[in-house]
Parts: sequence; structure tokens; C-alpha cells
Amino acid sequence: MTVRTERHGDIARVIVDNPPVNALSTEVRQGLMDALAETDADASVRAVVLECAGRTFIAGADVREFGQPAREPHLPDVIMAIEHATKPWVAAIHGSALGGGLEIAMACGYRIAASDAKLGLPEVNLGVIPGAGATVRLPRLIPADKALDMIAGGKPISADAAEKIGLIDRQVADDLSAAAMDMAKSVASQPLPQPLIEREPIMPKDATVFEDQKFKIVTKARGQLAQTEAVQAIDNALTLGPAQALAAERDTFLRLRAGEQSTALRHIFFAERSVSKIPAAEGAKPRSLKTVGVIGGGTMGAGIAAACLLAGLGVCLIERDDAACAAASDRIRGTLEGSAKRGLLSADGLAAALRRLSVGSDYGALAEADLVIEAVFEDMDVKKTVFAELDRVTRPDAVLASNTSYLDVNEIARATADPSRVVGLHFFSPAHVMKLLELVVTDTAAPDVLATGLALGKALRKITVPAGVCDGFIGNRIMSAYRRECDYMIEDGALPAQVDSAMTAFGFPMGVFAMQDLAGLDIAWAMRKRQAATRPADQRYVEIADRLCEQGRLGRKTGKGWYDYSADKSGETDPEVTALIESESARRGITRADFTDEQIIDRILGVMQREGAMILEEGIAQSADAIDVVMVNGYGFPRWKGGPMFMAAQKQQA
Ligand code: NAI
Repeated sequence: MTVRTERHGDIARVIVDNPPVNALSTEVRQGLMDALAETDADASVRAVVLECAGRTFIAGADVREFGQPAREPHLPDVIMAIEHATKPWVAAIHGSALGGGLEIAMACGYRIAASDAKLGLPEVNLGVIPGAGATVRLPRLIPADKALDMIAGGKPISADAAEKIGLIDRQVADDLSAAAMDMAKSVASQPLPQPLIEREPIMPKDATVFEDQKFKIVTKARGQLAQTEAVQAIDNALTLGPAQALAAERDTFLRLRAGEQSTALRHIFFAERSVSKIPAAEGAKPRSLKTVGVIGGGTMGAGIAAACLLAGLGVCLIERDDAACAAASDRIRGTLEGSAKRGLLSADGLAAALRRLSVGSDYGALAEADLVIEAVFEDMDVKKTVFAELDRVTRPDAVLASNTSYLDVNEIARATADPSRVVGLHFFSPAHVMKLLELVVTDTAAPDVLATGLALGKALRKITVPAGVCDGFIGNRIMSAYRRECDYMIEDGALPAQVDSAMTAFGFPMGVFAMQDLAGLDIAWAMRKRQAATRPADQRYVEIADRLCEQGRLGRKTGKGWYDYSADKSGETDPEVTALIESESARRGITRADFTDEQIIDRILGVMQREGAMILEEGIAQSADAIDVVMVNGYGFPRWKGGPMFMAAQKQQA
């Protein structure tokens, strides 16, 4: 039984049991209706506790039913019915009450939650607004500005925060069931609370601040419809009658659900949950994973160390000398303190994480490491020297990984005594924040070594995407290709600011030139120099970036790059760069032509899709979905467009 009713004296316990996350399937909705009918009809029942079996309260709608015709009973009707129950219902929330789960909890007259519970309305993440009345009920339970935050932001809040704003009546540290029973007994003799839908909305304290909040949400949405519609829905809740507001919400929900953005967001949602599989590692048991060695404590090494510490692993970091060790320690400590400030780590957690860290210059300290990640300079000889040293000092069963951006991991593996234990683990910067991890599958890696790579990804709560060996793997290879295309466009007539603004209008958080300035132009410059000898003679090569680097314009860190940062920190168009670009076009005999934003985006998408198709053909990516997941999670491709390969497939279908 997905929903069962138990009796405890004159209190009924309605228990939802639909593993793994008690999703609101048709069966659960029907089960709730049956439980309601039963408890309403039974004169000996004085109050009802609604709780869930397993690890969580109802964590949302059944996403699998999303693309299908809705089946009865519809959620809005279930909620309306529970809200009008003739006995008081108490929702006992543990784990997560999300989306429809929170809507069900709001239908109950009372809510009590475990203190580690999370409550939220994450619908915007799938391109819709809540569809069962939450936009109308929530601003009748908590102030409208807080309701808007939850609905347009899509981020769950803690039980503590929920108690402060009035979303729950109280939180309990232990024995939620018993506390909920006590609450049910005490409310059984009180008058029924007024259903939310019949109450007046709670207006925000300051109307001007509220207007400002709405403006910010719409601006930040950068064209995402759901966030903008959430603002409208809250406005409706405050200005229309409840019936009208409910009807408007349902219309919007159904329209958004059938729309392009929601389809794209669902695509990427499922893709992210399906890409972390490697056929060669099927059935293999990961090796033990408690202590991670990190070589190099620069930008990436320090970030990787912090990520591992935040996941509860021990970290042994090796740098070149005392000064570099001190700098690496500072970097890691700074990162962890930042996480603590943002509430991701308690003071005790911070102290414990620092105790799990050791930093030194003696490779001998790696004798006990289970897995070692190398993040030294991007130079094959340096990396080979490091791996030779790792060969000597690590346990023979320790997994060895390189964080290289572009280099041949097969070659690195061959330089060791046992290539079966070498893989690539390509993190993204900042490594403790970015969700993506490319697991570079070498020709020689053993199945359980690959399984260990996947296990590390899981421990760090990353989305791990397997990638084959080639220059740049999946992501950097596609990025190099479209960056080259952008170079062609500026030599043909566009300017960096125009390319960047076309990209941000499309939905990228930043354009390709501003991004290069942020990351520094020198790494790619070094790579171009390295590739110069092997570059096909007939491949077009634009020299503008090389000229900039030669002038010491390496991006933000030198105050100038594609843009000038000396007067304005966000960067201004520099007439010197424009002149350089125009003179390079002239030198090549190119007559500069105008580009529209649409042409710019078409060229960028086209090259992403062509390179993606080649990557698929060569088996570098296992699926088109993998490419989309990489571009969305590592390169700022707008999530609500689903990824370049998804867009290509949609276009073909149309
Ligand atoms: P970085 O220059 O900030 O750090 C490299 C660190 O390695 C320096 O602190 C240096 O002292 C240390 N080091 C050099 N040789 C060493 C040795 N033999 N033993 C111990 N430590 C040594 O470089 P970054 O940016 O952290 O890059 C490191 C690697 O990660 C490179 O392979 C790079 O391509 C890759 N990568 C970089 C990304 C980025 O966004 N910066 C993203 C993903 C990968």
C-alpha cells in the first residue's frame, strides 16, 4: 500500500510509503483521497497525522508523469480536499518537503518538522511554477515577499528558516512522530484552522522594497519564463480573488510545462542523472577512498583539496617548497572559511576539516593515500616527472589521476610502471563549487580504477561525465573550437563586445572574450604555441590573441586584455584593441562585414554542434546527453536551452 492508515487511539496516522522519495504518483494522490474519506467519515478519529516512511517526506511530483497527460485525482483537487478536511491534519515533515510535497503540507492545518528538514518549491528549476495552488496559498501563510523568494528562487530552506517565517508551526530535534502525535492530540479539541485559501494574503512590509525585489528577479532570470511568471503569479495572489488566482496559476503551469524551456530543463535534469556510467566499469567495486593526495596547491589543487575536505575526506597536499606550501594552506583555509561563512560548514566542521589536511613538500607523505590527483603546471614533462615520483612513493593499488586540461592522459599513464591505475579527473574552477567532473577514461585503466573515479565524483557530489582521451576531452575541445570561431568572427567584422553581448543575450552568464580576460590569456597562448608545429597548414589561424599576449595584455590580472579594466572593473572596449583587430583584418585582406546577434549565435551553436557530432563519432563522449551536461555545467550554456545537442535535435524534429 503506498498510503496506509493506522490508528493510535483517537488519532489516525496516514503514512505515505512510496520509495525512494515518496513522489506524488497517481497512486499516492488516490491513496491520500481514500485516507481523507476514511478519516473524515470515522467519528472516532479526532485528528490526523500525515507522515512518510523512508528517508523523506513527499519530495515532489513524480517527474516521470511530467510529460504525460495528467491522471485523476489531480493534485489541486487533493489539496483542496485535505484543506477542507473535517478533522485537523498535522503534517510531520522529515527529509525534504518539496514542490507538491510542500503543497500537501500546506493543505494540512498544522506543520511540524524535524530540525534537519528542508522545505521548498523548486519548480522553476524545471521551468514551471507550482501548479497546485502554492503561489496562492503560500502568500497567505507567510509574507508575500518571502513567498516570492521561495517560488522564484527555487531553493529549499531549512526548518529553522521555515519556523522563523511561519511556514511551519515548530521544529523538533528528535522523535518527530511522537511530537506530531502530541500536537495532533492538543489541536484535536480546538476549532479547525481556517483553510489558507480562504484567508487574506499577507502583504509585504515595504511596497517599494517589494517592487525592487520583483525587478531584480526578472532581470536575473535573463529570459527564463518561469521566474517572471512566478512574479506575476504572486501579484495575482495579492490582487485577484483566490479562485481566479488559482485558475490563472493552473493555466500558467500547464502552458509552461508544455513550453520549450521546461522541455529543455527536463531533458537536462534526466541527462544529468543518466550520464555517470561507464560500461567498462560495470559491476566493478571501487577501491577504498578515505585519503586523497593532491599534487600542486595552485588554483586547482587548492580547490580540489577544499572539495575533498568538504566531503569529509582526508587530504595530503604536496607543493614544491615551504613558501608554496604556506600559500596553498592559506588558499585552502580561505576557501573553507568562505564555505563556513555561507553556512555550508559549522565552526566545528571547519576545525575538523583543517585537521584532516596535511601540507608538505615531501612526496613520502603519500604512502597511505588511496587516490592522488595531480594538478601541477600544464606541461607534459613536469607531469611525467611527478607521475614517476608517484610510482615510487604510493601504494601499488593507489589510483593516480591527472587534472590536465588538454594533455594526453594515455601518454601520462604509459610513463608509469602500472598504467592500469591511471585516469584523468578534470575538475572545473572553482573546484569546490563547480558541479562538473570529467572522468578521462584511458586505454589502460582497470575497471575498478574507473569505478573509484566515479565513486570520488559521487562523494564530492559532482556530476561525473566519462570522456575519452583527445585534446581537451569533451568540454575544452568544444570550447577551443567555438573560441576559434569567435576569433574568425572578429577578424571578419564583429568586435569582442558584440560577440559577448550576443552570447549574454542568448543566456550565457559571460561572453567568450570577457571569460578569457577573467581566466587569463596566457594558458591558451601557451597551448597555441605548443600546437603550432602540428597545426594543419590549411587551418585558418587568427593571430589577434597572440598580439595581445605579446603586449602583456593577459586579461584582468594585468589590467588589460580584450577589454581595458583600468577605469572600470567590469571592463571597457579599448580603442587600441579595436584598431589592432581592424589592422589584422586589413593585413589579411579581409573586408570587414557586419554581423547580427543572430548570426553570431548561429555560428557559435553551429560549431559546437559540429564538434559535438565529431566527439560522438570518435567515442569521446558516450552520448549527446553527455555533451549537453558538460556544456551546461562547465561552460555556462544556458540550462533552459537544454544544451547544444538538444537544440540541434529539436531543430531537426521541427
Ligand atoms: P597553478 O599555476 O595555479 O598551480 C600549479 C601549482 O603546482 C603551483 O602552485 C606550483 O607550485 C605547483 N607545482 C608545480 N610543480 C610541482 C611539483 N613538481 N610538485 C608539487 N607542486 C608543483 O595552475 P592551475 O591553474 O591550478 O592548473 C593546474 C592544472 O590544472 C593544470 O594542468 C591545468 O591545465 C589544470 N586545470 C586548470 C583549470 C583552471 O581553470 N585553472 C581548470 C581545469 C584544469
